[in-house]
Amino acid sequence: MLQKNKGCHMGEPSADGFAVKLKLEGVEKKYGDFQALRPTHLEVKEGEFVTLLGPSGSGKTTLLSLIAGTNYPSGGSISIDGRPATELPAHKRDVGVIFQNYALFPHLTVAENIAFPLRMRGERQEEVQRKCDNVLSAVGLTSFGNRFPSELSGGQQQRVAFARCVVYEPSVILMDEPLGALDKRLRDSMQDEIRRLHKALGTTVVYITHDQTEALTLSDRICLMKDGEIVQSGAPSDLYFRPNSRFAAEFFGEANLYPYEAEGSGASNVAHVKDLGAVSPQAPEQGTSGWMMIRPQCLQLDPETPHDELRTCRVSDIRQVGFYTQFHLTLDQGGASIILQRLSDVSSLSRWHIGQSVTVGWNWRDVAFFSEERERHA
Ligand SMILES: Nc1ncnc2c1ncn2[C@@H]1O[C@H](COP(=O)(O)OP(=O)(O)OP(=O)(O)O)[C@@H](O)[C@H]1O
Ligand SMILES: [Mg+2]
Repeated sequence: MLQKNKGCHMGEPSADGFAVKLKLEGVEKKYGDFQALRPTHLEVKEGEFVTLLGPSGSGKTTLLSLIAGTNYPSGGSISIDGRPATELPAHKRDVGVIFQNYALFPHLTVAENIAFPLRMRGERQEEVQRKCDNVLSAVGLTSFGNRFPSELSGGQQQRVAFARCVVYEPSVILMDEPLGALDKRLRDSMQDEIRRLHKALGTTVVYITHDQTEALTLSDRICLMKDGEIVQSGAPSDLYFRPNSRFAAEFFGEANLYPYEAEGSGASNVAHVKDLGAVSPQAPEQGTSGWMMIRPQCLQLDPETPHDELRTCRVSDIRQVGFYTQFHLTLDQGGASIILQRLSDVSSLSRWHIGQSVTVGWNWRDVAFFSEERERHA
């Protein structure tokens, strides 16, 4: 839930008028010669939910720890609410952190765990009680106040960690893989919980995961990280449907990728995609060669509606992947491989079979082009 700048001490407005909560300029981290985080620019707006997503070792925790103040940068500057925070110790940043292991105090009850940060700030008993009751109710644990962490399930412990973090209304909440240890069902329900609480409280969140589905589900914006840098940042649908590299395309699951060569200039620019025997009428934004990408669910099998392009293929394999049926196809002309996906239904099981001749259709508006060097991936 983004919030427009209300004009109080919330930091400068961003270009679109929203308050900037968190700003990193050229922030980097070196360990000896090793660059764990390359100079990074990042602006997070008031109320925004930003996810740092990337493979193990890509620098997610490093970046988060620099924002939290549990680690200090080798260069660059950080500001929170428009105030310099680069040198500020963690406890003066008004930032709440939730780690994967929750770090609840085992010898304190749920209520005492949640009250802890308020007591540290010297708040009055009645205030502590009121805020604890409110937050316990918000996370659905009203009757659990007297239990100890060891008497709770993993998901309930996670909710207590969340409650303990939000009870003192930090300016920013940082979460490092908070759902990593949970099973799928619990993860799903905790994702709902986090989304609901984020909406209800309007808190700014920076969240880490290496699970792309979780990132797509929760985030207003995803920062995809690789080798210590943010390689693409945008709305979930941008990263999914408009990746700017093979890495980004492949990180989010199945992608059909084919080389293209551009020809012409300006409005008459076209892209030849030889593997598909196709010419795109839409000009790739940049570069004379690179990759074309289309997601498997953007392709239609034996379409009944008009499509920009139609090709005949042979079905080489049919796989059930969760709720989806995945068709592996071979193009008649040239033999390129195509993966097509559609929601499973009874007709996908009975209507198509391996070896069958089918038609594949796509529209150019569903296609992304990016001008990445091809040699690097050869
Ligand atoms: N104290 C340290 N000294 C030296 N290298 C470090 C230190 N902390 C982290 N690194 C290195 O920095 C890189 C980034 O680590 P980081 O913990 O930020 O990765 P991550 O993206 O959080 O990975 P994961 O998903 O596994 O948690 C890694 O190569 C790691 O080995
Ligand atoms: Mg990490």
